[in-house]
Amino acid sequence: MRAIVYREFGSPDVLKTEEVEKPAPADGEVLVAVRAAGVNTFDWYMVRGKPAFFRLLLGSGRKPLGVDLAGTVEAVGRNVTRFKSGDQVFGTGRDAMRAKRGSFAEYVSVPEKMLAIKPRNVTFEQAAAVPVVGLTALQGLRDRGRVERGQKVLINGASGGIGTFAVQIAKAFGADVTGVCSTRNVDMVRRIGADHVIDYTRENFTAGVTRYDVILDIVSNQSWPACRRVLSPGGKYIPVGGPPSRGISLMLLEPFTRGKLVTFVARVNVGDLNVIREMIEAGAVTPVIDRSYKLEETAAAVRYVAAGHTRGKVVIAIGG
Ligand SMILES: NC(=O)c1ccc[n+]([C@@H]2O[C@H](COP(=O)([O-])OP(=O)(O)OC[C@H]3O[C@@H](n4cnc5c(N)ncnc54)[C@H](OP(=O)(O)O)[C@@H]3O)[C@@H](O)[C@H]2O)c1
Repeated sequence: MRAIVYREFGSPDVLKTEEVEKPAPADGEVLVAVRAAGVNTFDWYMVRGKPAFFRLLLGSGRKPLGVDLAGTVEAVGRNVTRFKSGDQVFGTGRDAMRAKRGSFAEYVSVPEKMLAIKPRNVTFEQAAAVPVVGLTALQGLRDRGRVERGQKVLINGASGGIGTFAVQIAKAFGADVTGVCSTRNVDMVRRIGADHVIDYTRENFTAGVTRYDVILDIVSNQSWPACRRVLSPGGKYIPVGGPPSRGISLMLLEPFTRGKLVTFVARVNVGDLNVIREMIEAGAVTPVIDRSYKLEETAAAVRYVAAGHTRGKVVIAIGG
């Protein structure tokens, strides 16, 4: 089968399409014929090998790439109870840092706990756009932000992968949503449900008069004191993205912020994949696809995502 691999860290040019052995499902694993794979900034961090500890974790030698996937179950290993051959699934083809498998491939074998049945009303490409960013948006707003009906929620980075899910999920929770994006994305962010849109090229959201109950910050380009200034008295600031060094400094600061600053890392779990599947099937959430690439164009896809101006999600269409 064809798969994307790399042997050295660096620019997306290190990514190669190679013939590798088709995996067989081990006990508890599901062999998925991948139809589409979502591209995340995480993939780019893996390729460039920065922060440096990724290099230690990933080691030398041939490495696969890719987390998000949607596809069809080809075979199941022993003790698999939830899936059978022919099921259409979505989820993650890789467990965080573990580099044994990757979804940028024609087939991947993954533990069944990393998969759920695909939403029936979207394409494989749309389903592959969901897992990492959809779970991050859901868990950030629901578990960390505890967003309630009528609350004011601001999404900084509303036009990207996490942002386009966060705007729609916050709306589904009944919040009054403000999206922050650049001029070219204002219409799109409004169309997916934002009640108010702030164009960051003209206005700084931390300088306004509105106070927010929850700020989900995917960009982290404003200081903590500036963000705290626009929080309501019980408000929470939840940084989920931005430079890894900034994430680490905010984590160190968190214990001294009296619960106002809440950092977190999203976790893959079937229950939450099913929550998002239901939201998609109910029409409350629709994945936004920016571009679709072929498997052999993965380097270009990663380069585009690395530039940081994705409008929704970038996916790789495979097989089918
Ligand atoms: N905590 C977690 O569990 C977790 C999980 C997944 C990802 N992450 C992190 O989340 C980040 C990636 O998020 P993503 O996948 O949503 O990114 P993305 O798809 O690459 O989107 C980035 C978006 O940010 C917008 N943007 C750029 N500069 C901006 C600014 N100054 N103000 C407002 N918006 C701006 C861009 O829009 P324009 O083109 O209009 O500028 C673009 O639409 C990474 O830092 C990643 O490490 C964290």
